[in-house]
Amino acid sequence: MCENSTSAVATIIDRYAGDADMLIPMMQDVQSECGYLPQTELKELSGLLGVPLSQIYSVATFYSSFRLMPKGDHTIQLCMGTVCYLKGADKISEAIQKEFDLVPGSTSPDGKFTYSPINCVGACALAPVMVVDGEYHGGLEPGSAVKLLHKIAEAGPADQAEKKPAAKKKTAKKKAAKKKAAGSKKK
Ligand code: FES
Repeated sequence: MCENSTSAVATIIDRYAGDADMLIPMMQDVQSECGYLPQTELKELSGLLGVPLSQIYSVATFYSSFRLMPKGDHTIQLCMGTVCYLKGADKISEAIQKEFDLVPGSTSPDGKFTYSPINCVGACALAPVMVVDGEYHGGLEPGSAVKLLHKIAEAGPADQAEKKPAAKKKTAKKKAAKKKAAGSKKK
């Protein structure tokens, strides 16, 4: 696992005693091990379980929790609701897709971004709105949106960026301890 390991898929199938009715939990296990549902694993699942591949794909596309592509370092959700659309979200979408070689629902070839257009996120006053890694950015235009995404990509993957404040906290703690030590020396 992942991509091309029959034994790993077989292990997952064994976990559910080969019961084809447990297809969804099996697919969840594949995704939790691979981060998404690789084509190779789905073919293995289909062959070993005797379930048509088309049925597996229809399950994978029906449930939004399943991913058929690896997730990028950052997730871009661009609001295409009426207000955002009227304020130029379509132009932003075009610019992002061109700049990062994306199509809706895909991950960029460099693995940095996963892009999905979404419906109104309830922040119409900020339109057009783009949500990157859960953070709202409003009042954008094509150029500023692309610039913002380059900046975010330069800062590294979202999970690493999240770890930065914790490091700062440690430094602040150290500084406080130093100050305390300096204070006690003066006495
Ligand atoms: S239409 Fe985009 S936030 Fe409402």
